[in-house]
Amino acid sequence: MLSNLKPQAPDKILMLIEEFKADTRQGKIDLGVGVYKNPEGVTPVMRAVKEAEKRIWDSQISKAYTGLAGEADYRNALAGMVLGSVPADRLASVASVGGTGAIRQALELARMANPDVTVYVSDPTWPNHLSIMKFMGVPYVEYRYFDGATRGVDFEGMKADIAKAKKGDLVLLHGCCHNPTGANLTLAQWEEVAAILEKSGAIPLIDLAYQGFGDGLEEDAAATRLLAGRLPEVLIAASCSKNFGIYRERTGILMALGDSTAARDLSQGAMAFLNRQNFSFPPDHGARIVSTILTDAGLTAEWKAELEEVRNTMLGLRTQLASELRDLSGSDRFDFIQHHRGMFSRLGATPEQVAKLKSDAAIYMVGDSRLNIAGLNSDTVPVLARAIIDAGI
Ligand code: LMR
Repeated sequence: MLSNLKPQAPDKILMLIEEFKADTRQGKIDLGVGVYKNPEGVTPVMRAVKEAEKRIWDSQISKAYTGLAGEADYRNALAGMVLGSVPADRLASVASVGGTGAIRQALELARMANPDVTVYVSDPTWPNHLSIMKFMGVPYVEYRYFDGATRGVDFEGMKADIAKAKKGDLVLLHGCCHNPTGANLTLAQWEEVAAILEKSGAIPLIDLAYQGFGDGLEEDAAATRLLAGRLPEVLIAASCSKNFGIYRERTGILMALGDSTAARDLSQGAMAFLNRQNFSFPPDHGARIVSTILTDAGLTAEWKAELEEVRNTMLGLRTQLASELRDLSGSDRFDFIQHHRGMFSRLGATPEQVAKLKSDAAIYMVGDSRLNIAGLNSDTVPVLARAIIDAGI
């Protein structure tokens, strides 16, 4: 039986990790997978996370199962962080296996509720969104998003395309820090998106994987809060991988906001059922770290301070890279790097130019020219800037 399996194409982002490891050149630069690295190239365990783990180690006396939905403390604390307050009369939530697990189960939930669901997804989007939908057989259509000329958002195109989504369809939106482009909507534009969805009855599925990496913890949640406040039904898949730096703990949440307590209860039951079918109880350690931090004022303050350091480091690198490129190119055509937010920017280079950066300069980025800003430091920014110009980008 097993010999009937077909070879799987490797994930293009994860493949880069192996390629980079195998490269023996001195001074190679990894701008591939979306993992934060400090200027020393280390992905640190955050200070508040270490302290929370210590407290858990000291106080935990059992590792018996929790609930199928995960611990209420965790879900309430995270819902509060995302939504500003917990709308208990509308909110169903389950702890998930990372943000990816939440996306997967949001799609399963949508299909249970509407077998004819079509998902509208930005062009481009995180490649795994498409891969999961293809694997599940969930139909999707792409909506215009990235404007290759300005490296900003093609908002007129986006509006025209998402307006085609029908009642009961999903529109997958990146709540902040769009992956892979780094180009984001303004709050005024989010208002327009809300109005379009209000009119059609299509439901937003918000992927919120980088809260705190863009303009700030509150600012990055503003679009999600706006949609949650205006629309009767909203799905949110949030991840703690990046903002708590607990990537391998697989810590996320799926939230469903309904328009009645009855819809909330049905969603809660269906989401817990999906947990049971997929893996039974959700992972607990990362969730416990997050709830330990978010329910303690001191740890919350420590964590927020470090998250701000991370965010400001990335902003500083953006400013430096844009300025180096301004000097080298004698133009402002790379200023978009400074305006983008989050971990990524799409350069708008051709696959050949991206390949040239790898072969000539040992600089690794995703083939669509997405670069991870956090893979840089103040010493490597000038190296990248030079290589970008040399590659003819
Ligand atoms: C990325 O886009 O690089 C991250 O979300 C990591 C991943 O799983 O692809």
